[in-house]
Amino acid sequence: MINVILLGPPGAGKGTQARRLVEERGLVQLSTGDMLREAKSSGTEMGRRVAEVMDRGELVTDEIVIGLIAEKLEGATGGGFIFDGFPRTLAQADALSELLVMLGQSLDAVIEMRVDDAALVARITGRFTCGNCGEVYHDQTKPTKAEGVCDVCGSSDLRRRPDDTEEALRTRMLAYYRDTSPLIGYYYAHKKLRVVDGLGSIDAVAADIAKVLDKG
Ligand code: AP5
Repeated sequence: MINVILLGPPGAGKGTQARRLVEERGLVQLSTGDMLREAKSSGTEMGRRVAEVMDRGELVTDEIVIGLIAEKLEGATGGGFIFDGFPRTLAQADALSELLVMLGQSLDAVIEMRVDDAALVARITGRFTCGNCGEVYHDQTKPTKAEGVCDVCGSSDLRRRPDDTEEALRTRMLAYYRDTSPLIGYYYAHKKLRVVDGLGSIDAVAADIAKVLDKG
């Protein structure tokens, strides 16, 4: 059983690689971004507050996010987790390590996906996803085979995220460098950090991640 964190700035390719690991290794993807987008569409007061924060590109409070992850971890069964977009602060990292201890599990690797800022803007502004199955596409690097139709499920509900504007992206990048990048040092000190070059093709990045996971 493998538990792995994918760590990287917005657009690094965390979601894309997490979905491959689900398909290829049967791991369970825990994306706090996806959980929060679900909360956003719930129509509750909490969902409305979450929506405002996310659309600006700021971080949602540790309390909310840790609560969501704890709920999923406690209810999940099966073979290992991919943490996608979590943890994002040192408080979240400490909470995750406590949760894993409580469940008798441990963290195997933290994979930092390194990508330069110029590539991130192009990736984020070209991204769209399937509203039905969640498949992630890109105008240039991964278009759908038939225009306007998801390759995986055939849905025509293709969407762009409200926080994928250049302005919200600037705020998201700032949050990454201010609050999340200290986790690189944190996990290096815990001897969990592995680095992959996130600038390669989707297949090349997947091959590098596989090498890290298979080496143990
Ligand atoms: P979240 O949904 O986690 O967004 P993010 O971290 O900004 O990451 P993205 O989903 O934008 O990018 P990604 O790395 O998954 O890239 P992708 O694979 O899609 O969080 C959104 C918001 O929720 C946050 O801003 C915050 O408000 C809140 N939030 C979430 N978690 C939180 C937490 N723990 N604490 C507090 N707040 C939290 O790829 C991007 C594009 O590039 C796609 O089009 C893809 O096709 C393309 N692409 C991917 N890989 C490649 C490649 N190798 N080559 C070429 N193109 C590629």
